[in-house]
Amino acid sequence: MNRDAQRRAAAEAAAKLVENGMVVGLGTGSTAAHFIDALIRRVRDEGLKITAIPTSLRSDRQAREGGIKMASFANVRQLDLTVDGADQIMRGSLDLVKGLGGALLREKIVAAASKRLVIIADSSKLVDHLGGKIPVPVEVVKFGWESTATRIEKLGATPVRRWPKDTDQPFQTDGGNYILDCTFGALDDPAGLERALSHTIGVVESGLFIGMADTAFVANATGVEKLTRL
Ligand code: 5RP
Repeated sequence: MNRDAQRRAAAEAAAKLVENGMVVGLGTGSTAAHFIDALIRRVRDEGLKITAIPTSLRSDRQAREGGIKMASFANVRQLDLTVDGADQIMRGSLDLVKGLGGALLREKIVAAASKRLVIIADSSKLVDHLGGKIPVPVEVVKFGWESTATRIEKLGATPVRRWPKDTDQPFQTDGGNYILDCTFGALDDPAGLERALSHTIGVVESGLFIGMADTAFVANATGVEKLTRL
């Protein structure tokens, strides 16, 4: 299986957890898009009856076009299950780095309102230490972002405002904020860093998801492994 086929296999394994009547959180990214496709097929072919809350405009559009009915926080306080991708998954704790796809704020709001967060990924995402090769994405308000970046620097990071190649505008989230990609190196204390970032003025939310995921379906070339938080 190539990497995309692995992501699809993980997504299809997670789609089997969805039952009639559930309110389902829809993640964002290439792996989550496979999950949404699998749900669309179950709705169309099996008559599965669910409602969903998406974590991005992209996932919203894909799900609606596929015939999935949407729920809203105006009527729903708790979701049964959210299935989402991740940029890194720590073995054992299933703590995560998320947000390279830019949807971390909505992803965290939806995950926090869910009874379960299930992560789907290919095995390249599984790590012994968070951070290292990839930055921790941090969503910040636009006003005074330079000052917020200086405060984050004092926590030990090199923050870089996300700026997609070949564009003349910095990246903006669905909530109209900036993302600072913050390189910290390997993280000794992800939970402590998550707390420190959440107390940093100007930070809206960080891409560290600590103690939120209970299960991960991780695919490699030979199959899908189900990991449970230890
Ligand atoms: C978006 C995310 C994604 O879940 C994460 O970037 C993984 O994406 P992909 O499945 O495309 O590798 O956190 O904000």
